[in-house]
Amino acid sequence: MFAARQVFGAAQRRAFSVSARQNSKVAVLGAAGGIGQPLSLLLKLNPRVSSLALYDIRGGPGVAADVSHVNTKSIVKGYDPTPSGLKECLEGAEIVLIPAGVPRKPGMTRDDLFNTNASIVRDLAKATAEAAPKANVLIISNPVNSTVPITAEVFKSKGVYDPKRLFGVTTLDVVRASRFISEIKGSDPANENITVVGGHSGATIVPLLSQSGHKLQGEQLDAYIKRVQFGGDEVVQAKGGAGSATLSMAMAGARFAESLLKAAQGEKGVIEPTFVESPLYKDQGCDFFASKVELGPNGVEKIHPVGQITEFEQKLLDVCLQDLSKNIQKGVKFVKENP
Ligand code: NAD
Ligand code: LMR
Repeated sequence: MFAARQVFGAAQRRAFSVSARQNSKVAVLGAAGGIGQPLSLLLKLNPRVSSLALYDIRGGPGVAADVSHVNTKSIVKGYDPTPSGLKECLEGAEIVLIPAGVPRKPGMTRDDLFNTNASIVRDLAKATAEAAPKANVLIISNPVNSTVPITAEVFKSKGVYDPKRLFGVTTLDVVRASRFISEIKGSDPANENITVVGGHSGATIVPLLSQSGHKLQGEQLDAYIKRVQFGGDEVVQAKGGAGSATLSMAMAGARFAESLLKAAQGEKGVIEPTFVESPLYKDQGCDFFASKVELGPNGVEKIHPVGQITEFEQKLLDVCLQDLSKNIQKGVKFVKENP
């Protein structure tokens, strides 16, 4: 074996060690969908991804062929919708993103998707637990408040659950909260980073504006909170039955995956709000909760407490916790009754 130090100069050694660390396979399950396609494209553009594995019950290989022509280094492969195709797609993955499932139509809540999406996520979680038990699993499929506990229960039943590696992707709430405040304040949204805690549906989405230095009051504050909590409905209405947020969600999912890859590749201080198993409100029946989470090479490095909040925000949080505990229990019960 040669020592890199003896053979290469400093700059070459740096380049060598970066490329050696950037051996990251990322799998997308549901890759041919409204989120899956732009998400796959954004991952193809990410130099931290070395291999992109795309699976869907229909159209995975087609999307892979298309994305594979983009002239970045990573290798792209699409897999057949068979158990062996899914297994091969998952094997060796460092990150598994799951946007498989049906989206809302106008008039529906995310919970109305439970009956269809719970079994889709359960089955994909089973395959992931078997083929990639150590991967970071990023759940996008709704209702996230229930599909994350479903995934946890499946991993527990297979004896491979690691709470540090399971994430509900709530980044879109942060993206919206940041964009919407910039519209009010006339600031650059790229410089805004509003913390959003709780879960991912309606009243369980709690933006903590007071921690951002921005102040809104009265009706303007109410309207802002409502817009963040129900931003998803805005898109569902505008699409008029053709689905829910896909492009902004792809951006949010790609951002979260990028943060995990950065942390895995040694960057310190990478923090994103995300819905994880959390000690913060277990005593109130919420085993999962989104708050700021520091990411590291092993997934969750540190769960930050909610911190100082206003009385108004505390009231939002109280409502959130009531709804959230029911959503979580529903997911756990589903796996117990439908293993
Ligand atoms: P879509 O219908 O456009 O795409 C879903 C894809 O999943 C389809 O290509 C479908 O073939 C595939 N699929 C279905 N069952 C599958 C299975 N068993 N294995 C593999 N693939 C399967 O829907 P979309 O707009 O991409 O939304 C997907 C999900 O993401 C929805 O549940 C939606 O509510 C959710 N979503 C979550 C967030 C969030 O912030 N977490 C944001 C937007 C949408
Ligand atoms: C969103 O927040 O846009 C997603 O959860 C999709 C939806 O159903 O609103």
